Amino acid sequence: MIGFISNLFSRAEPSITEASARDTSAIAALHAMSFRRGWSEQEVEGLLLDRHVIAHRATAGTHLTGFIMSRLVEDEAEILSVAVVERRRGRGLGRQLLNLHLRRIAGLGARAIFLEVDEHNMPALRLYQHAGFQEVSRRPGYYAGTGTTALILRRDLI
Ligand SMILES: CC(C)(COP(=O)(O)OP(=O)(O)OC[C@H]1O[C@@H](n2cnc3c(N)ncnc32)[C@H](O)[C@@H]1OP(=O)(O)O)[C@@H](O)C(=O)NCCC(=O)NCCS
Repeated sequence: MIGFISNLFSRAEPSITEASARDTSAIAALHAMSFRRGWSEQEVEGLLLDRHVIAHRATAGTHLTGFIMSRLVEDEAEILSVAVVERRRGRGLGRQLLNLHLRRIAGLGARAIFLEVDEHNMPALRLYQHAGFQEVSRRPGYYAGTGTTALILRRDLI
């Protein structure tokens, strides 16, 4: 019965709220599933407790379905990571998370936001291009393992 109710909620539309240190395990697990090099729980907890880090999570019932995290120092921010659980991808959740997160960061005084993305990561590139990010530089061979290039993207927030 509890499993049935939990499944029912996991299919509900996700809601987006601020993340806290209580989300450490779930975020570390989703990060590990989404990236070649996962973050340890310690790393995630350190970020969630850092006063310069702003983090949002998407949840459906008790399930984490996505998160986004940035560091804001003075008037510049950097997106550290964003991920959506695989079964929810391609349905607009990444865009919802990014839009809300950018509004919050702009409200906190950021004038520009940066990020780095693998040149071959098409879903992420489309997400960022759609949100108005533009390429400002490249780091060839940046990603260990694949040797692919990192694109540095920027967007004004004012
Ligand atoms: C990147 C990511 C967060 C996007 O989340 P999402 O919920 O799938 O994103 P959305 O559904 O809002 O779609 C965003 C854009 O990506 C496109 N997209 C989604 N899945 C795609 C796919 N498999 N291939 C190509 N484009 C895709 C969508 O069409 C949309 O583009 P559009 O605005 O031009 O139509 C998600 O794919 C993910 O978690 N990837 C693994 C982690 C990762 O790579 N993070 C980014 C690191 S820089």
